[in-house]
Amino acid sequence: MFQINENYQKLPGSYLFSTIAEKVAAFTKVNPDKPVIRLGIGDVTQPIAPAIIAAMHKAVDEMAEAGSFHGYAPDLGYEFLRTAIVQNDYEPNNCGIHADEVFISDGAKSDSSNIQEIFSTGCKIAVTDPVYPVYIDSNVMAGRCGTYDAAAQMWSNVVYMPCTKENGFVPDFPKEAPDLIYLCIPNNPTGTALTKSQLQDWVDYANQNGAAIIYDAAYEAYIHEPDVPHSIYECKGAKNCAIEIRSFSKNAGFTGVRLGFTVVPKELSCGGVSLHAMWARRHGTKYNGAPYIIQRAGEAAYSKEGKEQLKCQVAAYMKNAAAIKKGLQADGYEVFGGVNAPYIWMKTPGHMTSWEFFDYLLEHANVVGTPGSGFGPSGEGYFRLTAFGSYENTTAALERIHAI
Ligand code: MLT
Repeated sequence: MFQINENYQKLPGSYLFSTIAEKVAAFTKVNPDKPVIRLGIGDVTQPIAPAIIAAMHKAVDEMAEAGSFHGYAPDLGYEFLRTAIVQNDYEPNNCGIHADEVFISDGAKSDSSNIQEIFSTGCKIAVTDPVYPVYIDSNVMAGRCGTYDAAAQMWSNVVYMPCTKENGFVPDFPKEAPDLIYLCIPNNPTGTALTKSQLQDWVDYANQNGAAIIYDAAYEAYIHEPDVPHSIYECKGAKNCAIEIRSFSKNAGFTGVRLGFTVVPKELSCGGVSLHAMWARRHGTKYNGAPYIIQRAGEAAYSKEGKEQLKCQVAAYMKNAAAIKKGLQADGYEVFGGVNAPYIWMKTPGHMTSWEFFDYLLEHANVVGTPGSGFGPSGEGYFRLTAFGSYENTTAALERIHAI
């Protein structure tokens, strides 16, 4: 008789954004006359840039001709895209990353949840708290997290590194050295970042303790301050300990198109075994590549026109971030993030819990955000708003919040 993977039974509730979607759907059903403004999930709203659309059309036409048709993509992804990534994302900062260390995928969510497969189930993970839930949930599914304490909202076998206003959202090194460290910089959900020297300290820590860093740089395009690194490979020694995951979702609006990549440096090894070779083996076995049309779309994001158009899109979202920050501060809220990231992290007013504030905002302002506690125990008392809405909706939401 078959048996299920019991680890799935340990997962509490549903995925955070599914729970929110259900709550909002229930509210809308009962209140069809109250249009809701959604600043919850970090989903983009601007259409795909013209240079990218043109490249996709061209690629579609190529697929219609026998001479230019493409079947299965190469295991690691097309050379044209991997080269464009290296030339644009890594060479300018002298990261020393080569095209054959880049693995194209269908997005950072898949990669950040799948990457744990190449590590032993005995590895202990450390996460910043609050944290993007995918890192923990994927490790729970793999049986790495122990048991869940619902009251504390914590897993027995996970090292939590609190990031709160008290420590400036900079995690302290854990007392007990973990094996795998998840870092998301610029951070989802707090919208804050680390400076290059703070990140260098983490790289040094990982190398000294024999740990690997899973570095999620999905929000890299939103970095504005000069001392925030765009890649972990700007830090010395990072190629010996770090895997970097990137996305086209937030910089190029590909949340529905799906494209991302992971860099596994050839220097990264464990007991003489190359992690690059392991990830290549996994990729070859379990994945048939992002579609040709989509990889051409990704390449166009690096064209001159593409870069200019995407810069404008990012600037528009950051204009929203600045408006949210300013508007909430003027209303007396305590607000963080929003400078190097499209997320605003605010303290809930009074003694409201994150979910109480979620309900209050939905009920009285018809605005949807994300409760901080959904990202971990240290997120309790905080609330996240995304800058990915339209400017009109963003300012309308601020007016509604002002009015309550
Ligand atoms: C978020 O809202 O945290 C993100 O959109 C989720 C994701 O990128 O998967």
